[in-house]
Order: sequence, then structure tokens, then C-alpha cells
Amino acid sequence: MIYFNNAADSYPKLAAINDFLSKPSFFIAGRDCNCQTNKELKVVDNFRENLLEFTNATDNFLVTITSSATEASNLVINSFNKCKSDNDYVIYDHSNHNSVLRPLHELYGENHLKMHNNIFGSPDYFDKDCIERIIESENGLKPQFLVFSHQSNVTGSIIRNIDELITFVKDNDIPLILDITQSIGNTQIDIKSILKDSGYNKLYLFGTTHKNLCSISGTGFLIHPKENNLVPLMYGGTGTQSLDYKQPKDYPHYLECGTYNIQSLQSANIAMNEAKEFIDINKQIKSSLVRYFIDKYNEINTPELEKYVILQPKFINEESGIINLLPSNDDIGKLIANELFKKFIIVRFGCHCSPKFKFKLNGHTYDQTIRISFNQFNTKSEIDMFIKEYDHIMFTIMVQ
Ligand SMILES: Cc1ncc(COP(=O)(O)O)c(C=O)c1O
Repeated sequence: MIYFNNAADSYPKLAAINDFLSKPSFFIAGRDCNCQTNKELKVVDNFRENLLEFTNATDNFLVTITSSATEASNLVINSFNKCKSDNDYVIYDHSNHNSVLRPLHELYGENHLKMHNNIFGSPDYFDKDCIERIIESENGLKPQFLVFSHQSNVTGSIIRNIDELITFVKDNDIPLILDITQSIGNTQIDIKSILKDSGYNKLYLFGTTHKNLCSISGTGFLIHPKENNLVPLMYGGTGTQSLDYKQPKDYPHYLECGTYNIQSLQSANIAMNEAKEFIDINKQIKSSLVRYFIDKYNEINTPELEKYVILQPKFINEESGIINLLPSNDDIGKLIANELFKKFIIVRFGCHCSPKFKFKLNGHTYDQTIRISFNQFNTKSEIDMFIKEYDHIMFTIMVQ
């Protein structure tokens, strides 16, 4: 199998994780259970510490553990929703994932949502003018919060002017929610340097560890200020103050309940440890795979290929390892992805859960793409095999 769908879930996982998972499982019998060896609870604490260290967070931040990025996104959006007033509205970015768009639509409704949209096809730029125009159209009322995707899962582009974004939210005292699901493990997230000494204390970052960190699924997180108005999404057993019918108010028990996914948390600890050393090397590997792919793609001499599929022409962040092929229509896109699948080559066709994101090119709008996403374990010979099969598929489509 050739796996080019790493933006959805990374495969293979790190060898050190496979090794850990092949050993007898840990158990977690309760957070204050006497029979518990301390080893398992340490895994949970270590995860929080590792994540804060890995993202170079300041002392102002805490980590709440969730089961996915989606749960973390819901946790923070739901909390803001609980204290909104009637006129409040939210500004989101057009490259946001459904893990943001759907809770926003369910909780706020279309009329309370405004889209930040600089140039279609360029989800990598915070456009202050655009936000100011929205605020003006709302008679000067500022949004309750901004929610941006740090790195697009469609194109892999990263917000280039994050400093300007932080300055804006700081100057206007607006909370910012940043989706770092794709960027964590792909690029160094450095919260201290993002914040500089701005004193801004309304930054919320959420994500998961199974993508560029190459850990297993089952762990999400919210990195949030110590002082906050977060409220639980769920209520239940925490193993503490068990005679009380109400959720304990102290952190982390207030926002976390239920049994931890200890295997996933320990895998994430291993992954963060490896990423510290390999993040730059992995970026180089992905860049070289992207460049190699483009060269090989451009050598395909199937006549009139461009009538059917166009290689995403610009805004490629090579280091993300993501490339898009833009099919002339959805049927062609589906057909190509299915034919590749029959050859055991896994790519993904669709809008990749980012329905607001669109490529605009030569007067044509592409809202679904064939996304090819590498990780550091892919090879140039896999790309050669892909190109060979793809060429064959396209040739067959054309003669039919
Ligand atoms: C940018 C982005 N945000 C959020 C998510 C949701 O992640 P999870 O499946 O962990 O909820 C994804 C997953 O594809 C994503 O790519």
C-alpha cells in the first residue's frame, strides 16, 4: 500500500510508539486509586508538561485533555456561547475545519457568524482590513471571539503574519481561538514568541496528536489561559470528591472526566519527544517529496491532461507535505481517487471537512480536490509508482 493521506491521519506511526503498544497495556484505575502505581498517573501529568514545553507556553497556560481536536473545539466554543449576549457574533476563517464550523453553526447560527476571507486560495494571511470592515458593518461592535486555523488541512498553508493577528486581538481585547491540529508537529509552535511580551491572555489553542506528530488517535487538547470562563462539556466521574453530586470545581477535574486514554497519551509523550529532535529534518523530507512530486507530475505527457486535472499552481507550503490536484468536475475526482485505491494508493478526494475553502483559478471554482499528503516516511519511489498508475488512469479516462 502507498499511503498519501497523512493530513487525515498519519501512517505509519513512529517505531517507538509501535514498540510501546506491543507491550502489556497500562491500566488506569482512577485518579486517586490506592492500588494505582504512580506510573500511569505520571503519564497524564507528563502529557500536560510535555505539551506546554513542546509549544513553549508561558506560565499562564494550562492543558485540558480531550479525546479529539473536535471535543476541544466544542469545549471552548460552547463556553463562549454560554456567556454570549444577543448581539454577539463570531468571526471565523474560510479555511476553518468542520470541527469549528459545525459547533459554530449549531450554537450560534448563520446570522451570528462572519467569515474572514482574504483571497480565496490563500488561507495563509490574516487580513486586518477585512476584520475592520466586518466590525464597521456591525456598527462598531467587536466580535465575541475570532477563530482561525493556524495551518489549513487543505493546502497546508500557515498564517504568515501571526504577529499582526496577535497584535490585533490584543489591541482590541478579543479572544482568539487557534486550531493547531495540522501545525503541531509540522512546524515549531512557540507560544512565547507568538505572544512576545504583549501581555495578551485570551489565546486558546486546540489540536490533536495523531497527525504530524505521528502518534495514535484518541488524544486532543486545549491549551488555555489559567484564568478563563471555560465550562465543562460533560459531567461525571473524576475519582475525586466522589460524595459530591456536582463536578469538582478545581482544575483539571472541572473540565475533564471519564477514564483517560492512557495508551494514546503515552504515545503522544513519545511522539513529542521525537518531534523535538526531528521536526526540522521531517520538514526537509516533506519539502523534497513535494518538489519531487511536482517535477515528476510536470513530466507526464498524457495529452490534454489539464482539461481534466490541474496541479494546484501556487500557495504550496512545501514543508507541509500537501499537494492538491484540482479535477475539472467531482465525478472525475472521485473516479481518480477510486481507481488509485484499487491500486492500493490512498489519497483523499473531497473538501476535506473544510467546506468554506475554495480554490479559484481561471474563472473556475474548485471546492473539492484530490489531496495528496506525505509524511516523513514516504519515499520518492512511492511517488514514481503513483505517477505511473496515475498516468495510466488518466490515459484510460481520456480514451473512454
Ligand atoms: C485543521 C483540522 N482541525 C480539526 C480537525 C479535527 O480533528 P479531530 O478528528 O481530532 O477532532 C482536523 C482533522 O482532520 C483538522 O485537519
